[in-house]
Amino acid sequence: MAGSKVEQIKEQSHYLRGTIPETLRSDASHFGEEDIQLLKFHGTYQQDDRDARVELKRAGLDKAWSFMVRTKIPGGHLAADQYLKLDQIATDLGNQTLRITTRQNFQYHLVLKGGLQECIARVTQSGITTVGACGDIVRNVMASPTPLNTPVHCNAQKLADELTQALFPKTRAYAEIWLNGEKLYPPPEAENEPIYGKYYLPRKFKIGVAVPPRNDVDIYTQDIGYVAHAPNGQAEGYTILVGGGFGMTHGKLKTYPVLGKPLFYVAREHAVAAGVTIVTVQRDYGNREDRSRARMKYLIEERGLEWFRKEVEARLQAPTEHPKPLQWTTVADMLGWHEQGDGKLFCGVFVPQGRIQDTEDVRYRSAFREIARQLGFPIRLTPNCNLLFFNIQPDQRNTVDQVLNQYGVPSDEGMTEARKTSHACVALPTCGLALAESERVFGQVMDEIDKILRELHLEKEPILIRMAGCPNGCSRPYNADISFVGRAPGKYAFFVGGSATGDRLVGLEKKVVELKEIPAVVKTYLEEFVAHREDGETFTEYWGRTHRPGPRPVPEQFHLELAERSARLAASSQNGAVE
Ligand code: HEM
Ligand code: SF4
Repeated sequence: MAGSKVEQIKEQSHYLRGTIPETLRSDASHFGEEDIQLLKFHGTYQQDDRDARVELKRAGLDKAWSFMVRTKIPGGHLAADQYLKLDQIATDLGNQTLRITTRQNFQYHLVLKGGLQECIARVTQSGITTVGACGDIVRNVMASPTPLNTPVHCNAQKLADELTQALFPKTRAYAEIWLNGEKLYPPPEAENEPIYGKYYLPRKFKIGVAVPPRNDVDIYTQDIGYVAHAPNGQAEGYTILVGGGFGMTHGKLKTYPVLGKPLFYVAREHAVAAGVTIVTVQRDYGNREDRSRARMKYLIEERGLEWFRKEVEARLQAPTEHPKPLQWTTVADMLGWHEQGDGKLFCGVFVPQGRIQDTEDVRYRSAFREIARQLGFPIRLTPNCNLLFFNIQPDQRNTVDQVLNQYGVPSDEGMTEARKTSHACVALPTCGLALAESERVFGQVMDEIDKILRELHLEKEPILIRMAGCPNGCSRPYNADISFVGRAPGKYAFFVGGSATGDRLVGLEKKVVELKEIPAVVKTYLEEFVAHREDGETFTEYWGRTHRPGPRPVPEQFHLELAERSARLAASSQNGAVE
């Protein structure tokens, strides 16, 4: 089969083996280009410390190679003992932090090659996997993390598990390479891939399950978004959205973010089959020549939603109906203390940029470890990169508060609403594609914005603010009220006009804003909001009423300068130029 270079690598890889086992055992400091692509399917990205690059090069030394290892945690759900095992791996093999991702996973950063096999094996032994956390395959299936004990919330989590099982890769390569062939999780089956075939999917594939009115899985950004329909409290079925996706590729003019569109409604009993069927349509028709156009969103844009619906319906042995009307109130998590509905409580803790670490001021890691060890509550990771403990007896509430206090973990009560939903992607120093800082500067940026919000008495206003280090947009900046997307060191494109419910795309307001200017620029927009808003209007509503959307996000806004820069980056680094 013809196809892009990555298609050929997949074909020749013997179901994702390549030469990974040989290189792993050798004393090579890093993997070659082909294995880098395959390693992603196993859940790991080869990276190098970008802070150290210049120094090392000057000294004539090799790059400081390391690995990002991404776990796959359907619905963000894990037990306390699993949490403790994953935490210990961060101590023994990572950089002493656990990074909650926007797909409800944990990532380890700075795992060294010598520790890679042990890291993946230990994750797997905890009953969690890394297989399919990256690569051209169905990634972690997300589900509303809200631990309300209602049939519809439980059903969303269950559906995420069922979809995960149905779309799990079957290759034995993972067990052979990382687990020494041990039959751990999942049991290795016959050596073929009935759903994926040897080319797997044309590109990454994302699925999420939402329970309205809370859009806490950012449903419009998924390749397939399931929205529960529960008129009597039971999940009778799901409206399915298709073709969402936010990535834009540096210098590739035909790439842009797209919001998912309603396809049809199916009864609960056919929900998994509908998902698998949609995956097979993308498998068979998705673009395998040009990776920058390989996401399902482009297939749907090119052939039309009607064509896509007919193709899915022709393959699906189940009735479908018109999509149900959808209504959302927020993308936010339920932070702080809440009743679950079964006499127990849950507690949502805000984690800045999802980075669970101990710093001088706040010891998130110690606090979470102690709660997991002492009280054993199950955990949900949220797509806003926060953490929820649940199944808490009311008389245990004080103990939890005491532990959080003891380690300096701030309560959400004093926080601005904007802070609670704010988020930034990882970017420097690990991400090979970052053009500007994101996670490392965002806390300070938000401190400044917080001051402005308080001055303007906007601390209770839901304003969704996100930052990304490059146009790929991993922190989902393209549907926020206000967002910054890195274009060069210290420089960001500035977008406004998405929504606090995640269902509208931003428009470009300023092509370049310097990092230090961000608070002042945001201030002018907030002042305008205060001056012109109507009674009770949110920022989202005010913007929609008073502004025509700016140009939607497209690579041209970054392109001319970025094309050159990304060519330079690609030449100087092999880590992840093709995702
Ligand atoms: C073509 C576009 C994209 C490329 C090439 C890309 C590449 C990457 C890379 C290299 C990382 C690792 C960063 C690190 O941990 O050091 C990463 C992280 C991540 N990406 Fe992407 N990405 C793309 C688009 C997206 C989009 C559109 C989303 C979601 C809407 C997304 C979701 C994530 C998530 C959840 C992480 C984990 C860290 C986090 O939560 O910020 N990515 N991506
Ligand atoms: S948005 Fe860009 S800089 Fe940020 S993690 Fe994704 S690829 Fe890296």
